[in-house]
Amino acid sequence: TPDIRPLIAGNWKMHGTAREAAQLAEAVRAGAGAVTARCDLLVCPPFVHIHAASAAIAWQPIAVGAQDCSPHAKGAHTGDVSAPMLVDAGCAYVILGHSERRADHGETDAQVRAKTEAAIAAGLIPVVCVGESEAQRDAGEAESVVAAQLAGSLPDGFAAAKGVVAYEPVWAIGTGRTPTEADIRAMHARMRAEVTGRFGPAGGTTRLLYGGSVKPSNAAAILALPDVDGALVGGASLVAGDFLAIAAAV
Ligand code: G3P
Repeated sequence: TPDIRPLIAGNWKMHGTAREAAQLAEAVRAGAGAVTARCDLLVCPPFVHIHAASAAIAWQPIAVGAQDCSPHAKGAHTGDVSAPMLVDAGCAYVILGHSERRADHGETDAQVRAKTEAAIAAGLIPVVCVGESEAQRDAGEAESVVAAQLAGSLPDGFAAAKGVVAYEPVWAIGTGRTPTEADIRAMHARMRAEVTGRFGPAGGTTRLLYGGSVKPSNAAAILALPDVDGALVGGASLVAGDFLAIAAAV
């Protein structure tokens, strides 16, 4: 989208040691100078590696994010990590409502919305994930499913807080399969309509990322589509050269 600075985000999921996280962050940092004139970079390590990654890219124009947060700021919630803790650890962003969390932990739109509110309250930029299953796409329900997820998962302050949306069709994650360019274009146009309809002009600058089997070979075509304002990259973000090649395709 014109006037929107693209965001290329890496979701490292549950991979690697602290040492590997630091090495990967350092490799991204080393190559970032070639791409950060044109886009923002974000890396999202597992919680326990956030400090290691942050230290490796300190003061460089690469943001660090987490992959989840609690809806609560503090309290008796064993095993959870709060949004203020993530800020304290060096995070600027947090991924919320990823389909793997929706599937593995039964997260509902209402829970994602509560977490998103907590993230915004702490000053984090939320990256809220939505996307249809293969059965839903086959049934012709992809757009209505995503529209409902947006309605349920995004709090009222979302666009004003510069919240980011990531469209990740579940069947395209880690499979090497992607929707057609026409399908991505149609979904992103629908998402733009949903966020502008809900948030007004602020929704016109909401960054809408595509995620699901993004790699260096398909990044340029996907990132050139209207209303695709960046990418949320899984597997390819674990290889610094591939992640940077995707960013270079913006
Ligand atoms: O959050 C990014 C992710 O779900 C996409 O994964 O491995 O298909 O790029 P991948």
